[in-house]
Amino acid sequence: MATKPGSKKNESEKASERSSEKLWGGRFAESTAASVEDFSASIHYDSRLYRYDIAGSKAHATMLANNGMLSKEELRLIVEGLSRIEQEIDSGDFEFKKELEDIHMNIEKALADRIGPAGAKLHSARSRNDQIALDLKLYLRDQCDRFADLLDDVRRGFVLLARTYLGRVMPGYTHMQRAQPVLISHHMLAYFEMFSRDRERLLDSRKRINICPLGGAAMAGTGLPIEREQVAELLGFDGVTANSMDTAGDRDFAIEFVFCCTQIQLHLSRLSEELVLWAGSEFDFVAIGDRFCTGSSIMPQKKNPDIPELIRGKSGRVVGSLMALLTLVKGLPLTYNRDLQEDKEPVFDAVDTVSASLSMMAELLENLEFNTEKMAEATKTGFMTATDLADYLVLKDVPFREAHGIVGRVVGFCIEQDCELVDLNLGQMQQFSPVIDKDVYEVLTVDGSIQSRISTGGTSLQRVEEALRVAEKQVGIA
Ligand code: ARG
Repeated sequence: MATKPGSKKNESEKASERSSEKLWGGRFAESTAASVEDFSASIHYDSRLYRYDIAGSKAHATMLANNGMLSKEELRLIVEGLSRIEQEIDSGDFEFKKELEDIHMNIEKALADRIGPAGAKLHSARSRNDQIALDLKLYLRDQCDRFADLLDDVRRGFVLLARTYLGRVMPGYTHMQRAQPVLISHHMLAYFEMFSRDRERLLDSRKRINICPLGGAAMAGTGLPIEREQVAELLGFDGVTANSMDTAGDRDFAIEFVFCCTQIQLHLSRLSEELVLWAGSEFDFVAIGDRFCTGSSIMPQKKNPDIPELIRGKSGRVVGSLMALLTLVKGLPLTYNRDLQEDKEPVFDAVDTVSASLSMMAELLENLEFNTEKMAEATKTGFMTATDLADYLVLKDVPFREAHGIVGRVVGFCIEQDCELVDLNLGQMQQFSPVIDKDVYEVLTVDGSIQSRISTGGTSLQRVEEALRVAEKQVGIA
């Protein structure tokens, strides 16, 4: 559409000019509607991938040059041009254009504008379909490494707490009822295990992320003479994907990564729940440093555990991101469908939310002080050594089921008498079983109970010290 000199351009004329700028504009007679550009653009969030897009393009160009599809000079122009674009984006001087849709076309167009014909050769043997998979994999690979470090900070926090409070006791719970006495360190190391599994899971998912998709092209591969293994090697991948159709449509790796994130956030959430409970006056097990609490705008006495509450609350959105991704791929036919563009925001939100929660938790762990007296006090009531009494009977050859019944009756008697097991005298005990002797009092104490739990993974001091040493080694302490 021609524009008369001096006349004001209308929207459709402006769009028409934009359409001729589009890298895929060739077959289109009409320009894209402005509303369609608005609706379909992803540049406002996928610009986050620019570093990976540029690294991928440089490796791709190098391979093209090695295989005779670019001259040395063209390669030089491309690599230098891309470096300049990267610097501009780094320093905030690059103008992203919505009409160029996404990060791939923004960078490719800028390159062509700067270096001319050589830039127009970069996209040979490549599609945005394998390019976006590449960018996302490179991004997630970095995130795996970053998350492993963040998890280590949290794991170190538990190890330090376990060392600090070694030997101190607290109630262990089932059904939120006092169950058996444990060492505080044992409880801390339980979380250490959870976050260790998270780290392992993440690094395992990294193996499947680290397979290069580039060269799958649109979905059927390419007839141009490329060497996929070379690109893979340049970018530090462990190999190349085996099927071009699978490559174009696969987001398993992103889903798996976000699942790993979700599992981390759920572990953080369970821990947060305990901290919120423990910080309340009903428990009074822990003091959270003032720096990590906030006050109430109306109740002057309040000191609220907002940080663990927020971490617990954020687990909802992380689960939401996972759900979004799962639902996204549910009905998709092979291969690439534009739906897949909707993968980025949930992935980025999960990355941001979980990494922020991990760093907060690492800091929070350094600002906890356990009220060891309160915790020890809480082990003295609730018949927490009842299982020890049953085990005592078993060791005197009473079948466990029978022992369980006997101890149940002893507990019932204590409830009637409003006393604890240790308060019964030997005569009273023997009414329930003649095999009970005065050595029973050793197993009825909290210390005796804890010391007896020497099975692998149990809460005796000896076992916990062993576990603590292993944990310390893993996080580089001692
Ligand atoms: N922005 C797109 C995405 O995120 C890149 C791939 C586009 N491919 C296409 N054929 N339109 O998925």
